[in-house]
Amino acid sequence: MPKLTVEGYGTFEVADGKRLVLAIEQDAHVDILHACGGNARCTTCRVEFIEGEPTKMTVAERQVLTAKGVANVRLSCQMLCDHDMAVRAISRLEGSGRPDPGGAPAPEITPPPEWLSV
Ligand code: FES
Repeated sequence: MPKLTVEGYGTFEVADGKRLVLAIEQDAHVDILHACGGNARCTTCRVEFIEGEPTKMTVAERQVLTAKGVANVRLSCQMLCDHDMAVRAISRLEGSGRPDPGGAPAPEITPPPEWLSV
């Protein structure tokens, strides 16, 4: 099982292939935002990578990061825990002024992923 480290929260074993946004929320118990429900539209699920940044990216992630002019972050709803990773959860419900983190992301990546190399 891959290990997920969330800075300030600890290191957790997570199910191989679990969506990173769900692992951060359910395994690390971090109140990460996912305002669009994990559909690569909002960028509120953004994380900074410390180690283990994936070398591939969904087309949807590339498009929304480019459209919003966001750099040096990755979208945790657009990747799977298939290797060890260490991240900073920089977009949390606490302090956001939002009433809730957003709709529950599906177990699988949505929209259905097309992959690019990064
Ligand atoms: S882009 Fe909205 S939850 Fe990931």
